[in-house]
Amino acid sequence: MTDKTLTMTFDGGEQTYPLLSGSVGPDVVDIRKLYPDTGMFTYDPGFTSTASCQSAITFIDGEKGILLHRGYPIDQLAEQSSFMEVAYLLLHGELPKKNELDTFTYTISRHTMLHEQLSTFYRGFRRDAHPMAVMCGVVGALSAFYHDSTDITDPLQRMIASHRLIAKMPTIAAMAYKYTIGQPFVYPQNSLSYTGNFLRMTFGVPAEPYEVNSVVERAMRRIFILHADHEQNASTSTVRLAGSSGANPFACIAAGIACLWGPAHGGANEAALNMLREIGRPERIPEYIARAKDKDDPFRLMGFGHRVYKNYDPRAKVMQQTAQEVLDELGISDPVLDTARELEQIALKDDYFVEKKLYPNVDFYSGVILNAIGFPTEMFTALFALARTVGWVAQWNEMISDPEQKIGRPRQLYVGAKRRDFVPVDKR
Ligand code: SDX
Repeated sequence: MTDKTLTMTFDGGEQTYPLLSGSVGPDVVDIRKLYPDTGMFTYDPGFTSTASCQSAITFIDGEKGILLHRGYPIDQLAEQSSFMEVAYLLLHGELPKKNELDTFTYTISRHTMLHEQLSTFYRGFRRDAHPMAVMCGVVGALSAFYHDSTDITDPLQRMIASHRLIAKMPTIAAMAYKYTIGQPFVYPQNSLSYTGNFLRMTFGVPAEPYEVNSVVERAMRRIFILHADHEQNASTSTVRLAGSSGANPFACIAAGIACLWGPAHGGANEAALNMLREIGRPERIPEYIARAKDKDDPFRLMGFGHRVYKNYDPRAKVMQQTAQEVLDELGISDPVLDTARELEQIALKDDYFVEKKLYPNVDFYSGVILNAIGFPTEMFTALFALARTVGWVAQWNEMISDPEQKIGRPRQLYVGAKRRDFVPVDKR
């Protein structure tokens, strides 16, 4: 709370509302009493100027291109920490001591297997089902399996559900991939790292041993960290809204997966690589830049622009460096990376992109790395969902334990028909 206020004048007089300050970032106007005071709602489609909650997990300064997780800069975490450390940090607020990290890692490893019934669940899908459709279905189905961890008023049960989700997402994602290519599911190997286990379940086969490539493991770990959480983005807000009704935690995460799938959100990583491949050669870039600027053309540069970042997405910087490192270390040259770099250079010098402050976002370069590692483009958003699950469960836990929390129920500006009487069909 501050002693600062905002006064609104309107036909009925004026009302004054308190400003609340956080630890960093913009103040907020506490307008919870606006409707009872004035009979008016605020109007903010897309929530461009609306803070939906208080949170201590992630801070973004969009103007400066800053991203902090519990105060730690994303580039330091991506460079120096493990994904289990980041998961612990997001969930508990502090970097774990060695014994805390070991206990957390062990606990997660105890939940990596799926109930065997769930593997038959996959057989209900066509082999060409999109992995995100499978992820939605299978994660939603988890809500039918774990009745011992769905009393959301019990912090212990909330944490067990959180551990189960973090632990099982790699297994579920790897199985979704195996199912589409007709290979047998590979069970978790808990002696491996979280990331190494995922790579083995995805690319290993029962017929021969699988050696985790350290270059790929490091790149994957960094990609998971870069995708772990991102304040109140669309899919996190979906998880919070679903959770605000007291819904089953597994069902809430399935709702987040559904929202993330959209091409305007997590689906952009798949769309960005497809776009870069469609452009093909640098000489075709001007044609696509022109299309992106054409108001009459629905085409947008995928992997570009962001609701919050009006500067370079700090994750995109790390992603671009990682792309070059991985290609170099794997001895792969991918013309798509050159096209991506060239496109970025041209766009960042174009007035349209400069004026609208459109920069590459987390999705612009990630596909180059994932493609080099061997993932099909359809798996890219499933990997995003795998990593973002730690953020979703951290935000869900924070929301449930927030004393100010209540069911989310926005209002509207009604522009439909006024009251009118029913007309029988023979008189219409
Ligand atoms: C993610 O919220 C998060 O934090 C998300 C995320 C996370 O970690 O959770 O960061 C992950 O979703 C990243 C964004 C991935 N999406 C894309 O790359 C798809 C392409 N980008 C756009 O669709 C768009 O930039 C959004 C959806 C990301 C943001 O859209 P906004 O904030 O609603 O902005 P807008 O659509 O109102 O755009 C502002 C202007 C518009 O022009 P005008 O109407 O003002 O004339 O910029 C234009 C848009 O037409 N614009 C683009 C553009 N992005 C915005 N023009 C061309 N190409 C683009 N990519």
